Parts: sequence; C-alpha cells; structure tokens
Amino acid sequence: MNVFRARIFTPLGSPFSTPDLRSTYAYFDDGYLAVADDGSIESIGDWQSRPHRLSEEPLVEFGENIIISPGFVDTHLHAPQLEMIGSYGGHLLEWLARYTFPTEAKFADEHYARSIGRALFDELLRNGTTTALIFSSVHARATGVLFEEAERRGFRAIIGKALMDRNAPENLLESAADAYENSRALILQWHKHEMLRYAISPRFAPTSTPELLEVAGTLKREFPDVYVHTHVSENRAEVDWVAELFPESGSYVDVYDRAGLLDQRSVLAHGVHLTDGELEVLSERQARLSHCPNSNLFLGSGLFPMNRVVKAGVVFGLGSDIGAGTTPSLFNAMSDAYKVQQVLGTSLSPFHLWYLATLGGAAALLLDAFTGSLERGKDADFVALDLNGSPLLARRTANASLIEDLLAGLIFLGDERIVSRTFIKGEEVSAR
Ligand code: GUN
Ligand code: ZN
Repeated sequence: MNVFRARIFTPLGSPFSTPDLRSTYAYFDDGYLAVADDGSIESIGDWQSRPHRLSEEPLVEFGENIIISPGFVDTHLHAPQLEMIGSYGGHLLEWLARYTFPTEAKFADEHYARSIGRALFDELLRNGTTTALIFSSVHARATGVLFEEAERRGFRAIIGKALMDRNAPENLLESAADAYENSRALILQWHKHEMLRYAISPRFAPTSTPELLEVAGTLKREFPDVYVHTHVSENRAEVDWVAELFPESGSYVDVYDRAGLLDQRSVLAHGVHLTDGELEVLSERQARLSHCPNSNLFLGSGLFPMNRVVKAGVVFGLGSDIGAGTTPSLFNAMSDAYKVQQVLGTSLSPFHLWYLATLGGAAALLLDAFTGSLERGKDADFVALDLNGSPLLARRTANASLIEDLLAGLIFLGDERIVSRTFIKGEEVSAR
C-alpha cells in the first residue's frame, strides 16, 4: 500500500446528463489516495477522515500546491505523425497527400518506428496522458513495435494497424486478403495482452474498397471484443468524395454500418458534418465519436456540433489527433473544445471539460471500469499537477478559492510544465 496526500479532484459522472454539477465530481482540498499493492485504489477521501489502518503505510506528502487528478485519456491520435506536427497549408485531403502519406511510409523501417514509438509514449506521459487510442501506419511490424513500446512503459493503449487498399501511394496499400491476415496476427498477439487492446483500423472510407471494409467487418465478427477505429465526416470535400465512391450507401455513417463496423467498441474521429440521421444511427449502435478540436481548427475542418451530439445521446471523448492536432496536451484539447463551443454559443463548464478529458474519454473507450476516475477498485492512473508549474499559473491559482476556478486556470494555462508526475496502476511512469 502507498498513501498520497494532496488536493484531489475527480469526476464521478457525466455533467452532460444532470443539471446538478456538484453531484458529478469529488474534490478534497486536503485529501488522501490509498493505492493497494496491485495498483488499484483502496480508498480515497478527506485526509482528516482517513481510516486508522493507513497510518502504518508509506506516505507521500505532495503538499497543498499539488492537485491529483485522474490521468488524461486521448481518444484519437496517429503515432507515425508525431514528427510532422505543424505541417501547414492545405485542408484535409491535400494535407494527407502532401505530408501525411510520405511521413507514414517511413514506418516501413522498424528501427525508425521504434524511435518514434519511444518518443511518443514519453511525450504522452510527460503531458499526463495515461490512456490512448492510437492509429499506427499500415505496417504490421511497426505496429508490433508500438505495442512493445507501450508495454515497456506500462502504458494503457488501444492500437491498430491502418488499413488502406486504394487512393493512397502504392507503397502504403495492401490487398484485402493481406489486411485480414496481418490484422488477425496482431489481434492474436496483442489484444488483451495486459493493458493493451487491438483496434481494427480502416483509415477512412475513401482509402477503403467495399472489399476492405468487408474484411474489417469479418474480423469484427470473429473478434467481437476488438475495437474499430476510423474517421468520419471531418471535412466537406471528404464527405462529397465518400458519396461518389459509395453511391449505394445512404450516408457516410451508412458505409461503416453496412460493413458491420459499428458497435460500442467503435470510435470514429471527428464527426464534424454529421446529419441528424447519421447521429441517430451512431446512437442506436452505441458507436463513439472522438472530438479533436485542435485538429479541426488546424485543418480548417469545421466546428464539432456538440449540442446535437449530446442530444442524440452519442458518447464522445477528446482527442489530440496528432499530427493534424498540434500538441499531445489534453489541457489544450479542453481549452480548444471550450473555444469551439463558445463560437457555437455554448459555454462549457470546467467540469464538463475535465470530464471529457478523463472519465468521459474512458467511457468512450469502454475502459471506465478500469480508469478515468479515482474511485475504489479502479486502477490508480493519476497525475500530480503543480499549481506553481509556471509563473503565470502560480499567479492565476493563488487566489482561486473555488474548485471550478482552479480547474479553469489549469485548463487554459496548463501544459506539460505543470504535470509534475504521472502514475499508471500506482507506478510512477514519468516525473519532471
Ligand atoms: N482522415 C483520414 N486520415 C486522416 C489523418 O491521418 N488525419 C486526420 N485528421 N484525418 C484523417
Ligand atoms: Zn486522425
């Protein structure tokens, strides 16, 4: 057992489903978190009312300038794009052709993929991200390497090999038959290996023939508890192209639905231009969306219709979408999500934003039984955030007496400088 003493904040439920925000979180301005030897949370609460039995256990006193939060959950990013962040000029389809495909081709070299994988997990942990859903490139060996690097760091990851069989450079395409064999072998090796999970990952409809999507559907039927990870309705030109490529489908969402790819383990990035009819299908299938506001702004894709998504009952989390997103930081994702909804007329509270970056993301990935909040029995995935981590933040938080005000300061001024330590299953995996 290890006991941590600090300020502690944790979401407990969704602020999107009740007007009583106070009921959706717990905050202790002098709290304790007791972590059992198996890495699970033994108990949590006010320091003053801690159980007597904890007094013999090793204690880590973080002090009043540290606030403990659940680790962040990034519901969408691309590992091979780490090195091309900030490749400017052009909207989605041009950006893919000009920068993305040539960069992803470099993952044919397994040593190169390993160096990117190492840098990626270091970066994510430095930013307080403890769980992520990750696109690899099409390369099977490089994808295996990403799993190895996640395992080495004790990172909680869902990873998948990209599937493409048209509309990309020849060296990034494979036959539907190879897509099946290569994905199957990776599923057998890595799915549910410790904290790792596999995602069948057709890149998006335009780089897939109907046969490739069928293969993805076949894999999903053979391995029903494997995830599906793809993109949907991010950009107007993309949506028009999908209508041309799949004339028999009623909508973009219908392309995936027909292939049997939508259930509660499906995560579709973006969904900026979805119709109400498409949202209804996603809701019926319980498929998830990943909202990546930084990427949507960088590529000029559009503004995520959060009110309509919530109203339709579609579950969603936040994603960095590296490398169209320009930072792995979930502080930035919260901050940009706030600004996008401001433009659309809705002011999200810090509780809504923090929920999306933690428990909401875990729920979107169907991992909320294990992570996303600090509750007895869950794994102790948490970050120690330093209220004095930057001079400006220290000034901003010095007089913040309300928790919502403190969280707002962290959301809008926070970055990796304030992530003092990161823990997964009670083990320290990163420290400043
Ligand atoms: N749609 C298909 N591939 C990609 C990608 O790599 N990034 C983004 N943002 N959208 C995509
Ligand atoms: Zn993406």
